[in-house]
Amino acid sequence: MLFLKLTLLTFIASQGLFVSGENMITCEGDVHRLSCDTGLIKVKSSLYGRTDNHTCSFNGFLSEAVNTSCSLRISTIADRCNGLRECELNTSLLDTPDPCYGTYKYYNTTYDCINGRVTVICERGYSTLDCGDSSIQILNANYGRTDSVTCSNGHSDSLTQNTNCYAQNTLSAVASLCNGQKRCTVEASYTIFTDPCTGTVKYLTVSYICSRKTVTCEQNTAVLTCDAHHLKIISANYGRTDSTTCSSGRPASQISYTNCNMPDTLTIVAARCEGQSSCEVPATNNIFSDPCYGTYKYLTIVYVCV
Ligand SMILES: *[C@@H]1O[C@H](CO)[C@@H](O)[C@H](O)[C@H]1NC(C)=O
Ligand SMILES: *[C@@H]1O[C@H](CO)[C@@H](O)[C@H](O)[C@H]1NC(C)=O
Ligand SMILES: *[C@@H]1O[C@H](CO)[C@@H](O)[C@H](O)[C@H]1NC(C)=O
Ligand SMILES: *[C@@H]1O[C@H](CO)[C@@H](O)[C@H](O)[C@H]1NC(C)=O
Repeated sequence: MLFLKLTLLTFIASQGLFVSGENMITCEGDVHRLSCDTGLIKVKSSLYGRTDNHTCSFNGFLSEAVNTSCSLRISTIADRCNGLRECELNTSLLDTPDPCYGTYKYYNTTYDCINGRVTVICERGYSTLDCGDSSIQILNANYGRTDSVTCSNGHSDSLTQNTNCYAQNTLSAVASLCNGQKRCTVEASYTIFTDPCTGTVKYLTVSYICSRKTVTCEQNTAVLTCDAHHLKIISANYGRTDSTTCSSGRPASQISYTNCNMPDTLTIVAARCEGQSSCEVPATNNIFSDPCYGTYKYLTIVYVCV
């Protein structure tokens, strides 16, 4: 097994910015392990493939054909690890589609450790998430059971044995209920989330951060400010994911396509803004290129001040 853990400190000389993050590279078939000494995991990008000929080549004894322009962006690692302090995934079980058959590949995840909060609510309980003046951004959520101890008091062993219980719809349900709100009450109930394991006592785990969000229509400029603190970008998209935002005065043909995402938005915004106390980002095709020609787009940025 080969683990390379690098702390990535990239100095972008031209803009005088300091961008920091953790990076983990794991060869295909090994265990991908992400961890945070303090804070919670927030994946920035996960790539599966091969972009150089030395990583995971076992000192050059790489027998399989080498294609070094092979890279598939995947979301499964973010889905499983976001919001946790540590996360171990057996990459053999990830079921990732093969982006370049015949080449021995590796997983490359870049992530941040961010200050977040974790709430655990036992079945039938309620909890209120509260962000004061900023707004809730859900990192991850699961209704189910992943250990035998949490919320086990008073229950027989048979009801707490299954520790591989995940309700697939939890994150989207909690996110649509709470994202962008200052306060939000969530309930751990099978009436809200599909019951993923009948006969097991479940609980709801929600991890979240208190963040700020800006939405900027195309051709305008986003302004991010953190007073005396530093910007950290949590997520960003240049495109269109609903038909109402930035729709005023626009013909239907420019706002009806709502599956428009520019995957490099986070990287581009982070490079311009992270580490600064304020920054401006024009919402234009010049900066991001055009992910959906003919659609009127907007730039959404979620950030925190650290
Ligand atoms: C790896 O790439 C370098 C530079 O592109 C090249 O010089 C070297 O011969 C390559 N090694 C192998 C084993 O293909
Ligand atoms: C990962 O999963 C594969 C396939 O089930 C298994 O053969 C291998 O032993 C597992 N590796 C670890 C470290 O658990
Ligand atoms: C490498 O893989 C990519 C992605 O599948 C493919 O587009 C490209 O043609 C491959 N290159 C070589 C030299 O096989
Ligand atoms: C891993 O991904 C990062 C971010 O995309 C990239 O800068 C780096 O070169 C990649 N490393 C390898 C070994 O592919």
